[in-house]
Amino acid sequence: MQLYHLLAGLMVVIRAQSRCLTDTPEVNPKRYFYSDGQMLDLRLEVSGRVTHRLATAVFKLFLQEVLGYSSVTIVEEDDHFNITHIVQRLSGPLTSLTVPSSMVNLEVWIAPDTNLIEFTNAYQVKDCGAVAPAGRFGWFVPLPLAYLVPGMDHWRIFADESTASLFSMSDRDFNYVQSFARLSATDKFYCEESFCTTGIFTPTHCNTSCAVLLAGHPGPACSDTVEPLAGVTKHFRTVVISYSAEGSTFSDRSKYPYFFRTIGENTQYKFVYLQLFQKLGWEQVAALTEDGHKYTEYISHTQDLLQANGITFVVNRKFPRDREKASMSKYLQELKNKKVHIIIGDMFDVAVRDVMCQAYNLKMTAQEGYVWFLPQWLAPNWYDTDYYNAHHLENVMCSTTQMIDVS
Ligand SMILES: *[C@@H]1O[C@H](CO)[C@@H](O)[C@H](O)[C@H]1NC(C)=O
Ligand SMILES: *[C@@H]1O[C@H](CO)[C@@H](O)[C@H](O)[C@H]1NC(C)=O
Repeated sequence: MQLYHLLAGLMVVIRAQSRCLTDTPEVNPKRYFYSDGQMLDLRLEVSGRVTHRLATAVFKLFLQEVLGYSSVTIVEEDDHFNITHIVQRLSGPLTSLTVPSSMVNLEVWIAPDTNLIEFTNAYQVKDCGAVAPAGRFGWFVPLPLAYLVPGMDHWRIFADESTASLFSMSDRDFNYVQSFARLSATDKFYCEESFCTTGIFTPTHCNTSCAVLLAGHPGPACSDTVEPLAGVTKHFRTVVISYSAEGSTFSDRSKYPYFFRTIGENTQYKFVYLQLFQKLGWEQVAALTEDGHKYTEYISHTQDLLQANGITFVVNRKFPRDREKASMSKYLQELKNKKVHIIIGDMFDVAVRDVMCQAYNLKMTAQEGYVWFLPQWLAPNWYDTDYYNAHHLENVMCSTTQMIDVS
């Protein structure tokens, strides 16, 4: 009996220490989940998806620390997006009163044409509604490939061997791709799972000609992409985390309460510019931005801060996106006439190519003592005018070699 008391005391101490919501009073007495006179743990099911694991971990905390359920466990299950399978698991066998292996699933992906009522009627499972906006699986192909064959804009083409074979690779190309399957500087592959061979997954039925798909990490990167998404999440109460959308608009907490980012917003640049300019003793600067580029309002904030600290903001020039050919030269000449050597340029890749080519022609490059601040999100090969002129119908009158000279 004494031993029992001692154990009970210890458990209370441990639990009190490991509470997460320290500003919520501890719920006492605890709640227990009984079925048929048997005390059960509440079993939450998770898949390998990060979103699923996060939501489940938070829900577990809520059950334990806000509602006071003493025993909640998390059960790992593979998710093959098979609703029948998940519902059957949550329901348990219909013929006997057995406790199901899991009881709650917070993230079941449901196809738009699935009628959940059929499932909830047939099984002992309750549908508690949607927790996130509807998503869809999709194949995304680059525009130049979208018209390769008729019907190219539909997944069906991947199901037909003759059209799928358009995406089949030659041995030479395959070997080339193979060289990227390995993490650089290690002998590990990106895919170390048992279903991958030398870092590449090949389905068993795919031993003839199959489409080769290269997977990437999509995510809301640009402010333009984030804006509609972040706006909608307010209504679905879903968190969106961006690693590179820097527009300061999203700092409006009433408009985007669920938007978070892992980088700073661009209005914070002003402090960096100020400190850098002071350190280097630079006294005047100009800005060149694209009109209609929504996320450049930080330039005006920078202008205010720099001027308040005795640095002259010579000109804050905007140019129209649909500018006339050769007009860029005019804007640069204007900066040159005003004898400004430090230029903050915020514009998209196409305009940057045009601007830097004109800078080359007007001798306004680093070699002539000019300093350009360009966005960090430009494409890695943004300066490759030979490529963009040939493949994207641009006509920037500088060769890639000349552009390399500029940068
Ligand atoms: C989904 O799961 C059910 C029940 O486990 C199974 O009978 C069915 O074959 C599965 N469907 C697919 C497409 O794998
Ligand atoms: C491809 O796989 C199928 C089914 O597994 C098998 O019948 C066939 O012989 C295989 N073909 C080749 C070329 O390996």
